[in-house]
Amino acid sequence: MKNQLSRRGFIRTAAAGSAAITWLTARSGPNVFAADAGKPAILGGTAVHKGGWTAWPQWREEWESKMIDVYRSRKWFRLSGPQVPEFEKAWAEMLGAKKALAVASGTTSLIVSLHVMDVDAGDEVIVSPYTFIATYNAILANSALPVFADTDPTTLTMDPKTIESRITERTRAIMPVHIYGMACDMDPINAIAKKHKLAVVEDACQAWLAEYKGRKCGTLGDLGGFSFQESKHIPSGEGGAITGMSEELIDKCNSYHNCGRTCGTNKGTGSFTRGMNYRMTQFQAQLLLVQFEKLQKETAIRRANADHLSANLGKIPGITPVRLPGNGRPSWHLYPFRYDAAGFNGLSRDRFMEALRAEGVSCSSPYREQYFDGLLDEAINSRGYRRLWGAERLKAYRDSFNDLKGNKQACETTVAFGQNMLLSDRSAMDDILAAIAKIQTHSAAIAKKA
Ligand SMILES: Cc1ncc(COP(=O)(O)O)c(C=O)c1O
Repeated sequence: MKNQLSRRGFIRTAAAGSAAITWLTARSGPNVFAADAGKPAILGGTAVHKGGWTAWPQWREEWESKMIDVYRSRKWFRLSGPQVPEFEKAWAEMLGAKKALAVASGTTSLIVSLHVMDVDAGDEVIVSPYTFIATYNAILANSALPVFADTDPTTLTMDPKTIESRITERTRAIMPVHIYGMACDMDPINAIAKKHKLAVVEDACQAWLAEYKGRKCGTLGDLGGFSFQESKHIPSGEGGAITGMSEELIDKCNSYHNCGRTCGTNKGTGSFTRGMNYRMTQFQAQLLLVQFEKLQKETAIRRANADHLSANLGKIPGITPVRLPGNGRPSWHLYPFRYDAAGFNGLSRDRFMEALRAEGVSCSSPYREQYFDGLLDEAINSRGYRRLWGAERLKAYRDSFNDLKGNKQACETTVAFGQNMLLSDRSAMDDILAAIAKIQTHSAAIAKKA
């Protein structure tokens, strides 16, 4: 198998119009050599990848007795059974965090963290725009304004150079998002936060076990939030966690998520502070506990396969793997890369993805410029927001979305594979590479047929 095709060698073969065939010849047995093996599936050829991808989520028969034990215990509520505290202890240990708190979802992990870091009505939070919409909503739920730092299109994460110009006297926190489980460049972000006395809440909802400079996401700022929703690497249907290096902060989170009941180092004088019910059930905690080993094993598999893709994708003209700051070791919730139509004879990204899907390779273009989607207009035109900010500030805020050039580029050029695809064997990764190479070789013909 010839995995390490050199860039120059690739371009030479591609120029001769036979790169995909060369690749397939080098890596496959005779069964792929149908007469049309080199012809793209979208133009009537044979698909490179057959057999689909790993279904998600997964279950194991050996987990069932533990789930039934919870059911039969009649202790299903957070405060009655042992599984939630057990999960919290184990999750904190696995991450190297001082303490963890289990909550109802990733969204609630962020809402609670922002509240505990003193983000209040009328405050501003500097956040990454390239994320799932729940990140924006967690800030809005605290009646604060999500102010967007730009995205570095080479890393798809918050560009630290664009933070300081967004700071106003109302800024209270920075919320970097480790998107797809790729850690943000946390050293400069933390340095800016320290200089301006701002809190740092990590959105680590896709970053289970991901690392930056040898430390796990969720331990790099003041507090970090995780999601265990169904699509996630360690899923419990719904669920979330907050981690941090301060016992006091996690105890405050505990109080807020538990109807305001004071606890631990947050005993205070009264029995209650403000709070919500964002508790996790014992069933969710048990389902998470049984998946710890699986998460660790699968993280290693995803990383090895992602490394293989990254080592080879950059050899294909028009494809650029993402740059990882701080020796980042991602969790790869999605595996993203950047697509440049110029390297594919002008083939649009949508048509490229259509061609890739025809080859049996699932893919998506994950996030749009969703600040133009109306959600933020609804918020800033609300009675509450108009009361909290002047018209001039809200207009300047709305206009500033047009300045997010890096994010626009990230949204327009990214293509991604799902985490479940990275659980396949090495030959499936080679199928992905071969499919892209084949499309590149025939891109002019595919573009013409659009
Ligand atoms: C980056 C990011 N932030 C926040 C969330 C919210 O998590 P949940 O769906 O568990 O509320 C998600 C979930 O997809 C996410 O991907």
